[in-house]
Amino acid sequence: DWSMSAYRAETIAKIQAQVGKGRVICGLSGGVDSAVAAVLIHEAIGDQLTCVFVDHGLMREAEAEQVVALFRDSYNIPLVHVEAEELFLSELAKCGADPEAKRKTIGRLFIEVFDEEARKLGGADFLAQGTLYPDVIESVSFSGGPSVTIKSHHNVGGLPERMKMKLVEPLRELFKDEVRVLGRELGLPEAFVGRHPFPGPGLAIRCPGEITKEKLDILRKADAIYLDEIRKAGLYDVIWQAFAVLLPVRTVGVMGDHRTYDHVLALRAVTSVDGMTADFYPYDMAFLGRTATRIINEVKGINRVVYDVTSKPPGTIEWE
Ligand code: XMP
Repeated sequence: DWSMSAYRAETIAKIQAQVGKGRVICGLSGGVDSAVAAVLIHEAIGDQLTCVFVDHGLMREAEAEQVVALFRDSYNIPLVHVEAEELFLSELAKCGADPEAKRKTIGRLFIEVFDEEARKLGGADFLAQGTLYPDVIESVSFSGGPSVTIKSHHNVGGLPERMKMKLVEPLRELFKDEVRVLGRELGLPEAFVGRHPFPGPGLAIRCPGEITKEKLDILRKADAIYLDEIRKAGLYDVIWQAFAVLLPVRTVGVMGDHRTYDHVLALRAVTSVDGMTADFYPYDMAFLGRTATRIINEVKGINRVVYDVTSKPPGTIEWE
């Protein structure tokens, strides 16, 4: 892609001019954006970059291992893997069910962990993030209307003064589809570039109500089955984003000759071009039936599955 190769060269020159001989740390979330940002910055400044992957215990099944394998093993980019599950879950336990409290807590902990890692590395001058254009506008205003915060995006703004790190955000002018083109241009594996978006606060915002490790484990299993069925049906690349949401509601069911009283799982799938607006995906009923049966049979703790048919607006893509 001609225009993307020009953008790549231009952005690399800009990063070099901004950073000079400074040290940069880049947070990897497991998503496409931070991965593309990291590879681009590595191309610009080489080993002045260290990546930090904070495993907050809110990742999907096998996701943490995949990120570490890609960066440390395939790309040879210095990567610090921080095991922070206990810290995140213990602080989240204090938030109760309030979605904004959860988002803010996660944002604060990310910053604390980064601060600590930067200190251990002997200080960093810059913090790199894979912030996209829609993140910038959605966290400021909505649909061009008055300034209203819909959700606190953990990776935008709010960098405390005491961090004394400047931001490097090479994707700030791009939309998701452009980031994917740039990722391909940079040679990232197709399986990674084509991944559905995954939010920084992870499964915490797909688990309405109080967060516990037990609920997260149930959600992880169900989500993996759902995505497996989507891939088998050849729908992964047709859908912008698909995920399961574990509801804080229990309902009565029957399994064999037993009464059950377990969680409801909501399935979500949307098509979109930029995440700003979205339509629910019109699955055929056979797909939904098959997937629900598998989830209920294979995941202990779920006895009912529902499908979310809300578009954006009026819904948001995530439930929190
Ligand atoms: P909503 O739910 O606002 O989401 O319609 C739009 C897109 O943004 C993702 N999202 C986030 N990504 N940090 C992120 O990096 C966040 O805090 C965050 N919140 C939502 C969401 O998954 C969807 O792709």
